[in-house]
Amino acid sequence: KRHLLSTADLSRDDALLVLDTAEQLARVSDRSIKKLPTLRGRTVVNLFFEDSTRTRISFEAAAKRLSADVINFSAKGSSVSKGESLKDTALTLQAMGADAVVIRHGASGAPHRLATWVDGSVVNAGDGTHEHPTQALLDAFTMRRRLGDLDGRRVTIVGDVLHSRVARSNVHLLHTLGAQVTLVAPPTLLPVSMDGWPCEVSYDFDAVLPKSDVVMMLRVQHERMNASFFPSAREYSRRYGLDTDRLGRMPDGAIVMHPGPMNRGMEIAADVADSVRSTIVEQVTNGVTVRMAVLYLLLSGSEPAIGGDK
Ligand code: CP
Repeated sequence: KRHLLSTADLSRDDALLVLDTAEQLARVSDRSIKKLPTLRGRTVVNLFFEDSTRTRISFEAAAKRLSADVINFSAKGSSVSKGESLKDTALTLQAMGADAVVIRHGASGAPHRLATWVDGSVVNAGDGTHEHPTQALLDAFTMRRRLGDLDGRRVTIVGDVLHSRVARSNVHLLHTLGAQVTLVAPPTLLPVSMDGWPCEVSYDFDAVLPKSDVVMMLRVQHERMNASFFPSAREYSRRYGLDTDRLGRMPDGAIVMHPGPMNRGMEIAADVADSVRSTIVEQVTNGVTVRMAVLYLLLSGSEPAIGGDK
């Protein structure tokens, strides 16, 4: 495959190939080998139209650990502020020799458009409220490392599903990998139509909690939300927040996940985020490994855009 745009179109074999490749790469870094020569001569462009800490930095770290050259582009401070379009921006970057473009954009579908304009591989690093495939892959990788095979595992995803590209990507990928996913959210924070979402929906967090192998909390995305959508913060935390009391009612061995950034004290209590059951820091570490696997699989067999492995 040339691009990674969504988990909805990722087959089970493709998904397992990424996870197994990431596992091999993790073993290499466990042997204190920090850098591989695999992508020497390739150029990866990070094209970020929305803010990011984890995704942008981990793609940069992943590309550098594979010896690729990295160009970081942030829309803030660029000619986008003078009105330059996504297409012209992309073609400008391509003219500088991008073999892969990692794009985060506020518009759902922007990476798909980009893939029709550039010659290199396109990786979706989050598009609007649509998908964030590498987040779902790193989440699945983290679950597999903690719990083993995901077949039959029960994963509960809680919170602002309406605005969450993380939720959508996870629902599709986890279903493909054989897990049973339940979404828990207030009715106002669920999409109006959930046709094609292979999961169950519940409004009762406490009923689902004791049957969950994984509880994944979502950030309340205030920046994408009209204030009238949202109950009070206190009411939200009471019904849909993960506090120490709820943590105590999870099954033995169950884990707590959050993609970050967190609203501590809103969807997740600080003590829960920092507890031994939390994989939040591991998720960040695993993000670098999984993104190395994605870049490796997309680029290692391809010819460099210009120059390259001579
Ligand atoms: N989880 C995630 O996508 O975080 P960033 O927005 O910091 O990249």
